[in-house]
Amino acid sequence: MSDIVIEKAREEDKADIFRLLKMANMHNIPSPEMPELTYENYYVAKVDGKVVGFCGYKILSKTEAKTELMVVDPVCRGLGIGYRLQEYRMRDMFARGIKTLTTNTDLPETIAWYKKNFGYQEVGALKKFHEFGDPNIDTWTTLQVDLDKWQKTQERGQT
Ligand SMILES: CC(C)(COP(=O)(O)OP(=O)(O)OC[C@H]1O[C@@H](n2cnc3c(N)ncnc32)[C@H](O)[C@@H]1OP(=O)(O)O)[C@@H](O)C(=O)NCCC(=O)NCCS
Repeated sequence: MSDIVIEKAREEDKADIFRLLKMANMHNIPSPEMPELTYENYYVAKVDGKVVGFCGYKILSKTEAKTELMVVDPVCRGLGIGYRLQEYRMRDMFARGIKTLTTNTDLPETIAWYKKNFGYQEVGALKKFHEFGDPNIDTWTTLQVDLDKWQKTQERGQT
């Protein structure tokens, strides 16, 4: 596969981003689950100039942030694109002094992916306001990771 390039998302990427979000049933924006797309801390993954992944985050306080959205085109999954996007946003937040990162997610395989690859732990659950993501799952599993600890594992070359 050609190189994966991670870039800051721009307004011009909106149509591509919504095409991806629709594939994961995360396109109901604005809505109580996702009031707006701000483009402040959003990133796209491109392969051969084509947008194949998208993710973002939101700063909550000096030391806390939460991830916002994450989707990889189903035909491009399992190639490390999601890993690159997640690693990129975690590094970005760490560099900005964020210590505690929260992620709400629904699919069991995605929960396992975050735990295995990025050191997240389950800290709770949250009822969805309405359908968003998997229509068969009505609850978000809340995951958290300590970015200082994660950074140390990165320095040691572990995941
Ligand atoms: C979760 C999601 C973003 C992961 O994206 P992805 O690009 O498939 O992720 P990766 O390729 O980095 O990792 C997927 C698996 O493929 C493996 N993989 C990575 N590179 C690979 C390669 N070159 N060849 C084969 N497999 C590879 C990884 O080891 C990983 O396996 P693991 O789960 O056992 O660790 C994607 O599945 C998705 O969009 N899911 C639906 C929406 C969703 O749940 N979003 C999250 C909301 S919070």
